Formats: sequence, structure tokens, C-alpha cells
Amino acid sequence: MTKTLFEPSEINGMKLQNRFVRSATWEGLAADDGSCTPPLVELMETLAAGGVGLIISSHAYVQKVGQAGSGQLGIHNDDMISGLKEMTAAVHGQKSKIVCQLAHAGFFGNEKLSGQTPIAPSAIDGIAKGMRKEMTADDIERVINAFATAARRAKVAGFDGIQIHGAHGYLLSEFISPMFNQRTDEYGGSIENRARLPLAVLQAIREAVGADYPVLIKMNCKDFTDEGLQPTEFVQVGKMLADAGIDAIEVSGGLPVSPKTRPSQLGVNKEEQEAYFQEEARALRKKTDVTLILVGGNRSYHVAESLVAEGVADFISMSRPLIREPHLINRWKAGDLTKATCLSDNLCFMPAIKGDGIYCVTEERELSKEK
Ligand SMILES: Cc1cc2nc3c(=O)[nH]c(=O)nc-3n(C[C@H](O)[C@H](O)[C@H](O)COP(=O)(O)O)c2cc1C
Repeated sequence: MTKTLFEPSEINGMKLQNRFVRSATWEGLAADDGSCTPPLVELMETLAAGGVGLIISSHAYVQKVGQAGSGQLGIHNDDMISGLKEMTAAVHGQKSKIVCQLAHAGFFGNEKLSGQTPIAPSAIDGIAKGMRKEMTADDIERVINAFATAARRAKVAGFDGIQIHGAHGYLLSEFISPMFNQRTDEYGGSIENRARLPLAVLQAIREAVGADYPVLIKMNCKDFTDEGLQPTEFVQVGKMLADAGIDAIEVSGGLPVSPKTRPSQLGVNKEEQEAYFQEEARALRKKTDVTLILVGGNRSYHVAESLVAEGVADFISMSRPLIREPHLINRWKAGDLTKATCLSDNLCFMPAIKGDGIYCVTEERELSKEK
């Protein structure tokens, strides 16, 4: 049967009202200790009311040393649970679903905020300023436990599932990427070895939350650099994760090392530029029927519609369009099928970096010109 965008669907028992996903988006609105705040709860409630079937929370750090930035959500200790319960209750009150993205920034950990030297597969030079600590076997064990414990917390907090952040040059994608992983032990070298940590994290999470709890992963299909992960190896790792029981793979890509390699690509102005990871999703689809969520430059309703109808993806995921138009899905459902108004200029990062939380700066400028 041909899949359609507004039909109900499910991921490992999690019932969803449509095939639209809000991709994980750091809002810069969490408290200094990582706990959830009323503005964050309000934002989630607005998104849920806007009709999106599944919200993926912003990246929540599972260990303090894995914190990437300010205003970032934490799920590294039990004190975080009560605030997160308010977030999940607000989303459920609007009949939507929410999974928690569990993250570890690894190499890109923020030393100033954590007070600790960032940990990484290898202590390579030339990518970031400052020292990095090459992880020992004990460090690896602690990270696996931190992900599993965080997943248990997410379940207690009422999340409908979790998503492992295995993309964008964060710790787990660093292990997969030959650019960051130069280890010579069983976690480095062959693609099977480089996939060992994400697979161990999946297994530990599964043991912590059970077989019937949705466990998703977001992973890179490429790093946009010659030295980094290439699509062929992405397909191999995707297949390994599918065989190991992952419930869905969100296909993304990119690294936080230069504007060209960013996961949020600039200037998605034409239909040909949309869904910019679709070729890699097609390649993975040929090897497995695992549920695929496609992110990156989804802007036009009918492009999304044909990707789902063709079976390239089961779900269409968006980040920036829902910053500008949190009610985009309801707009489309009501019959206004004009494409998302997002200009993909990435100005939405600016206010969050300044501590004011994300919003669409372009829309604000347009509105002030009209006045
Ligand atoms: C402000 C902002 C914050 C983001 N934070 C996260 C995050 O916390 N976790 C993550 O996996 N991706 C994050 N991303 C990447 C998006 O989820 C998405 O992969 C990327 O923006 C491409 O999708 P889009 O074209 O729909 O924006 C962020 C993107 C933006 C614009």
C-alpha cells in the first residue's frame, strides 16, 4: 500500500497521527543545570498543537562532560526527571508524542561549561582548540552506562521513546567516522570495529528499557569531507543497527567544523536542493526495510509526499521550518500546501547563542519592515 503523509502510523507500538517529525533542535532554553524550564515546556506545547506527529526533543546530554553548549537540556542525573515530566505532559495534552534525544558531544564537549577535558575516540589535533582526552576502556564503559541510565530516566519522565544521537560529529558518530577515530583497539580500524560503540549503546539501552520501548537513532550518512564517513560505510552501519533491533533510523549528515559541512545546509531555495540526504536514504533502503526518517531540507509538501509514496522514507523530519512555522503541519492539513516559508539562512541559531532562545530572525525582520 502506498504510504501517505497524513495517515496514522507507528514505530514499535508508538502510535503517531501522521508521518511528520520535528527533528531534534537545540532551543537554548534549558536552565544552567540542564533542567527543563517553563519556556521550553511552552515551546513543546506549541509544536504539539501545531500538528506534528512526533517531536524529538533537543539533544540532552547524558554525561556532564558531553555537554555541547549553553541552555542545553540535560538528562545526566535524576534531578532532571521532574522538569522533563512537565515537558512530556504538555505534549501528551496536545495528543502528540515526544521522544528524548540522548546525546554526548564527545570531541565537541564544552570544557568551559563542564569543567572537564572533552573525551573523544582519539586525541587528534587541528580540528578544535584545546586538549582532548583519548577514551580508555573505562571511559567507554562509563559512556555506555550513561546512555542506558539516561534512557531509563527518559522512560520514567514519560517520553514515548528515545533517540540516540549518532550524528553530526558527536561522540557516537566520531567513533564511526575515520576522521575522528584513529584507534587501534577493537573500537577502531574496520567499520565493524568503528560501529562497536553505537551498537553497544543500543544493546545497553535495550536492556534498560525493554523490547517494546521505541529506540531510534539519528546517524550521519556522510560527513561532507573526504577524510570522514562515506555513504557506503553508512549503509553498512545502518544495516548493522537494523539487524541489532533499532526501531528507526533518522538519516542526517554533516559535522560542526565549517559552514560547508553543517547538517543545516544553507540556501535550500529550489526543489532540487530539498531533501539533501535522499540519495543516501535510497541506498540504505535497498539493504533494509527498517523505518527511515529523512531530515535535511524538507520544504515542499509534494516533494515530501512523493518521497513517502516512493518508500524512500517512512517519515519526513524538519527542524528549521518548524522554528518559523510551528503550525506548518496543521496549515498543510487544512489544505494550504504552499511550501514552508523557512529560507534556510540559519539565522535562528543567533538568538540561542546569545541566550535568548531560538526564533526566526528573518521573520522578525520582515515583520518589523511591514510596520
Ligand atoms: C537551531 C538548531 C538546533 C539544532 N539542534 C539539533 C540537536 O539538538 N540535535 C540534532 O540532532 N540536530 C540538531 N539540529 C539539526 C536539525 O535537527 C536538522 O538535522 C538540520 O537542521 C537539517 O534539517 P532542516 O533542513 O529541516 O533544518 C539543529 C538545527 C538547528 C537549526
